[in-house]
Amino acid sequence: MSSQGKLLNLTLKIWRQKSRTEKGYIETHEMSGISTEISFLEMLDTLNDQLERAGSAPIVFDHDCREGICGMCSLYINGQPHGPAKATTTCQLHMREFKDGETVFIEPWRSSAFPVVRDLMVDRSSFDRIIQSGGYTSIKTGSAPDAHATPIPKEDADLAMDAATCIGCGACVAACKNASASLFTSAKISQLALLPQGQVERTDRALNMVAQMDEEGFGHCTNESECEAACPKEISVENIARMNREYLRASVVSRK
Ligand code: SF4
Ligand code: FES
Repeated sequence: MSSQGKLLNLTLKIWRQKSRTEKGYIETHEMSGISTEISFLEMLDTLNDQLERAGSAPIVFDHDCREGICGMCSLYINGQPHGPAKATTTCQLHMREFKDGETVFIEPWRSSAFPVVRDLMVDRSSFDRIIQSGGYTSIKTGSAPDAHATPIPKEDADLAMDAATCIGCGACVAACKNASASLFTSAKISQLALLPQGQVERTDRALNMVAQMDEEGFGHCTNESECEAACPKEISVENIARMNREYLRASVVSRK
């Protein structure tokens, strides 16, 4: 096989929307000679080059690291958040996942708490406001302590680390029929609730982050687990159960 891999011809059906207030529509683009070795975003880059050379507006989509770290890439691909590959962000999805002659639908996340800014880009500042409401610790950390200065049980450290791998992409919201942000919020609550450093604001954090999640207009969790299936970092729904326990505890012990 050459370094180009196989070459694909695809029909792309892409959501275009000029602004938050304008109505969106599907635009069709035929693409030929797409290497199976390139990534999905590189395929969109190629399309945008062609559009710009033809004097048309390029398709707007979010991306930053292109390494599965930043959580910016956010596309429904054939109705699946981040596309068909398991535990994979859109930027790490390769064109070898598609078949020659396939029609591929590309749409933005659908949730009223993530309004479309333009084309495939949505406004995810609702996630930032959830973090600002409690996803931090305000203790003085000083200079970096020795790694073993604060003993933490291995199991807790592992669970906290697993929760901390959430990149805030929003695929969990996009996959959920209720557009619930429970997986994201619970991962952020869990990563701090499990560690000694997170105990100072533990009660306020659970109350405030859940309240902010509701205020942003995300739906409630009805235990479908679609979020876990779509999550590129395989965050477990066990975190949602922990968030519910944290919220119940906070409701009992809060003096407010
Ligand atoms: S829980 Fe998973 S799907 Fe949801 S924002 Fe975090 S990484 Fe993305
Ligand atoms: S562009 Fe950063 S995770 Fe995809």
